[in-house]
Amino acid sequence: MKTKPFIDQIALVTGGGTGIGRAFTEVLSIHGVNVVIASRRKEVLEHAAREINELVGWERVFPYAFDIQDQSQIGALVNYVIERWQSLDVVVNNSGLAVPETVDEITDDGWDKVMDTNLRGVMQLVRAVLPHMIMNDFGDIVNVSSQAGKHGYADVPSYCASKFGLLGYAEALRDHVRKTGANIRVFNFCPGLVDVENSASDARPRPGFIHVSNMARTLMYALSLDREVVLEDINIYAR
Ligand SMILES: NC(=O)c1ccc[n+]([C@@H]2O[C@H](COP(=O)([O-])OP(=O)(O)OC[C@H]3O[C@@H](n4cnc5c(N)ncnc54)[C@H](OP(=O)(O)O)[C@@H]3O)[C@@H](O)[C@H]2O)c1
Repeated sequence: MKTKPFIDQIALVTGGGTGIGRAFTEVLSIHGVNVVIASRRKEVLEHAAREINELVGWERVFPYAFDIQDQSQIGALVNYVIERWQSLDVVVNNSGLAVPETVDEITDDGWDKVMDTNLRGVMQLVRAVLPHMIMNDFGDIVNVSSQAGKHGYADVPSYCASKFGLLGYAEALRDHVRKTGANIRVFNFCPGLVDVENSASDARPRPGFIHVSNMARTLMYALSLDREVVLEDINIYAR
C-alpha cells in the first residue's frame, strides 16, 4: 500500500485558525506538512498562518477564506488546493459550532446552521475530495465529532444530532473506502471538553478540560499508524 512522508503531504484543516484546528495545523506543519487552513474569517486565518509560519521558519500554512455552508465555496477551495499542489492527502473536518437551544426552544434557523456546518458541509467536502485521493491512491480523512456524538446533552440537541450523524456518516465512508479498496483511512475524534482558551504550552487546563496539545499529539499518533490499521472513534476527555 502506498505511503507518503509527511514532508510530501498536503493537508486541509477546516477551522484551522482557532482552537483545536489551530493546534492540529501547528503540529502538522512542525512535521513538515503543508497545511491549508480554511474558515470564514480571513484575518483570523492570516494571523494564525503568520504565527505558525514564523514558528516553523517556513511558509507551510496557507490561509483560505470560505464558508462551509456554501457548496460552491467548497468546490472552489478543493480546486485551489489541487491546482496548487496536485494532491490533497489529509482532510481534517474540524469546523463546527453549537447553537444552544433545548428541544422545546429549537429554531429552524439554529437547526439548519448546525446541520449545514457540522454535517452537510463535511459530506460535500468529502465528496469533492474523494476522487482526488482515489486518483493519487492516498488519503486520510479526520473528523472532529465530540463526546456529544456519543451522549445526548439537553442543552445542545441539534449539536448532538449533528455529531452523532457525523460518526454515522464516517462509518459509512470507512465501509465505502474499504469496499472500493481505496488507500484512504478515516479517523474520528470524540473529545470531551478541550480548553481552547488556555492553549499556551505551559498553560494548565481548567478542571474537567484537557489541554489542546493532547489533541495534536493524538492526531500525529493516528496518522503515523500503518495504512491498513483502522483506529475507530478516539474518545478523549479529562478523567
Ligand atoms: N473545544 C471543545 O471542548 C470541543 C469538544 C468536542 C468537540 N469540539 C469540536 O471541535 C471542533 C473545533 O472546535 P473548537 O473548540 O476548536 O472551537 P472554535 O475555535 O470555535 O473552532 C470552530 C472553527 O469552525 C470554524 N467555522 C465555523 N463555522 C464555519 C463555517 N460556516 N465555515 C467554515 N468554518 C467555520 C470557525 O472559524 P470561522 O469563524 O472563521 O469560520 C472556527 O475556526 C468543532 O467541530 C467542535 O464541535 C470541541
